[in-house]
Amino acid sequence: MERTPKNIFLIGMMGSWKSTIGKLLAIKLKMKLIDTDHAIEEMTEMKISEIFSELGEERFREMESAFFIEKSRQTGYVFSTGGGIVLSEANRNALQNNGTAILLRANPKILENRLRNTQKRPLLSNSNELEKRLTVIWNKRKTLYKSSAHLTIDTNDLESVDVVQKILEQKDRF
Ligand code: S3P
Repeated sequence: MERTPKNIFLIGMMGSWKSTIGKLLAIKLKMKLIDTDHAIEEMTEMKISEIFSELGEERFREMESAFFIEKSRQTGYVFSTGGGIVLSEANRNALQNNGTAILLRANPKILENRLRNTQKRPLLSNSNELEKRLTVIWNKRKTLYKSSAHLTIDTNDLESVDVVQKILEQKDRF
C-alpha cells in the first residue's frame, strides 16, 4: 500500500523562492500545494500589503497562524509559507510535528537582487537599504529558521529547477 506523504513545509526569508519552488515541487511529487500568503489573500480578498496597512501586522500574524495550524493537520501538502511563519511558537510546533520543514537559504545580497523590483513586501517597503534590512531580519530570525528546519538547501548560486532537484535528491529524508 502506498503511504500517505507527510507535508513538506518550505520555510525561509522573503525572496527565498518558497512560492516558486513550492509550485514546481508539488508538480514533481504529485502533491497538493498551499501557499499561505495566497490563501490568506483569497480568503480576505485583500493583498498582504493592504492587510498590513489596514489591519496591522499583529492581525495578519493571527490569521496566518490560525490558517496554517488548521491546514497543517492534513497530510500530503507542499506548503509555501510566509517568511514570518517561524515567529510563532505554535507554528513552530506544527512545523516540527506535521511534516518536514525545508529551509531555503540565500544570502541577503542574493535576496536583495531577487526582491529589488517587487512592491509586495510591507516589511521591506520604504527601505532603500534592502540588503541591510534583510540582514537585520535574518539575524533576528536565523535561530528560529535553523531550529525549525529538518533540512536546509543553499540556493545561492542555483536556478529554481536546480533547487527542486536538490530537494528531490534528499527524498529519503522526508
Ligand atoms: C513576511 C513574508 C511575506 C508575507 C509578509 C510577511 C515576513 O511572505 O507573509 O509580507 O514576515 O517575512 P514571503 O516570504 O512569501 O515574501
